Amino acid sequence: MNRLDDIEYMKVSLHKLGEAKLMINPHINGAIENDFPDEIIHTFDLETKGILDLYYNWHLNDSETDDRFRLFGTVPIFDDIVYSCIFDFFIGTAIYVSYDMEGRLAIHHEIAEMAMNDVKSFVKKYGLADLIWCYLVIVGFENHQAISYYGTMTEKDFIAGKNHRSWVSHSLEKELFIELALGFLEIIEVEEKRCVQLTQKGRNRMNTEYRMLVDSKYIDHRMKMTYISQFDQLSDWEHISNVMFPNDIQFRKEFLDYIDISEGMDILELGCGSGSLTFDAKLAEKVGKNGWLTATDPSAGMLSRAEDKLNQLDHKNVTFEAASAERIPFNDQEFDGVLGAGFFHFTDNDQALKEMIRVARPEGFVGLAGPLEFDLNQPFFREWFEDIFLLSEQKTSQSKLQIYLHRIEDLTQLFREYGLKHISHQTVNLSWVFPDPQTVVQFMIHGVGFFQQELEFMPMKARNELIQRLLEKGEKICARYSLNERTIQLPSYYIKGVV
Ligand SMILES: C[S@@+](CC[C@H](N)C(=O)[O-])C[C@H]1O[C@@H](n2cnc3c(N)ncnc32)[C@H](O)[C@@H]1O
Repeated sequence: MNRLDDIEYMKVSLHKLGEAKLMINPHINGAIENDFPDEIIHTFDLETKGILDLYYNWHLNDSETDDRFRLFGTVPIFDDIVYSCIFDFFIGTAIYVSYDMEGRLAIHHEIAEMAMNDVKSFVKKYGLADLIWCYLVIVGFENHQAISYYGTMTEKDFIAGKNHRSWVSHSLEKELFIELALGFLEIIEVEEKRCVQLTQKGRNRMNTEYRMLVDSKYIDHRMKMTYISQFDQLSDWEHISNVMFPNDIQFRKEFLDYIDISEGMDILELGCGSGSLTFDAKLAEKVGKNGWLTATDPSAGMLSRAEDKLNQLDHKNVTFEAASAERIPFNDQEFDGVLGAGFFHFTDNDQALKEMIRVARPEGFVGLAGPLEFDLNQPFFREWFEDIFLLSEQKTSQSKLQIYLHRIEDLTQLFREYGLKHISHQTVNLSWVFPDPQTVVQFMIHGVGFFQQELEFMPMKARNELIQRLLEKGEKICARYSLNERTIQLPSYYIKGVV
């Protein structure tokens, strides 16, 4: 057995990869090698060769042990795949680090350095082989998904990565060879063209890869990055949000009334975004001069917009800090209350709630506001997003369009499970307007990543085509349905509990 077939071994390796936050192909952000300055690409190239010299029998010298055999057993492997693995991890991790640290895609020397250190630490700790096995699972899944999506793909397109991995600068010829040797793909003739398709073994493999990537949280981790980076790219978030949710601020004000914040409290706000709750709904005013508000968000882009607002207003009692709800950088029992609006559905709920409770003082409160699951089968909505509904129905593993919004029963249950007292909630309807195709597609696809579960592993070209179709379809929908018919009453909630 080679390690690639050893599922338990692979799961452990992928788990370690997830913990190290190493990433490849975050193509969803449209980031490609061209976004990298030449000198950084040059450094990545040199460092990749350095790792190879250090850990891998790169030049096949005359030593008695054959490192290739030790690392890869009977799986055919090529030097340039090993090279691409390290190089791709440098690129992908740098994109991740850039968003994580600065909330935007700006690859400069420090970011590149951090990414290289992350990859090198992984190799030092676990060995180069582990990195390569993980690489083969991830790119294997990417290849299999794309072929499964299209049914067949010409050999030429596959090798060029034309439809599914166009950001990769090298040829996928060697990957194809490995796939054929392992029996995951086969060559068939379609209209006198050589095409590749999945074998049954390849299909099973794809399902296993998916499960491994889900179990190791690699997919979660990548989606989380997508959610955060997408918010960063939305420079006109305020405008989009105000047009689509005309009662947005009112909803947030009522949430604050519901929570009953009193002057002088020391409050932590999570997922503050660009400050709708913080300033527009007047949370900062409510805590007053004698209180303190610490507002946090993992997206540096959103935070910098909130900070701009702070500079225009004159609040001396607000500070900002970059943080995700799952890892709150404050001491236990530090706050009178912890709250936030419209962010909880982006989090690992258990981890986030646990953290919220940890930093609230005994008898302090935890409060959330956000959207609830709603009936997606509204005529205009179903018609507009039909392609995505179909995509979801085609999936064998699930028959229902996956969205990540909560049901109020589940939220209350979660609050109960975590031992909160005096739990209460209120549901209200929030008008959700679908004004014009550009705004809607921006919001749904680029902003809140509403269909991210469906789109995350769609081949890049198909994804871009789908977005284009949604824009065109939107024109027809907006002509056929009145604005009134394009307005949904989005069920939303306020919930609070006492620690
Ligand atoms: C829809 S915006 C809401 C912003 C603001 N609270 C409001 O009331 O309008 C969602 C925010 O959640 C943030 N977010 C995404 N993932 C998060 C996480 N894991 N923890 C905390 N916030 C997160 C995003 O960066 C974004 O700023």
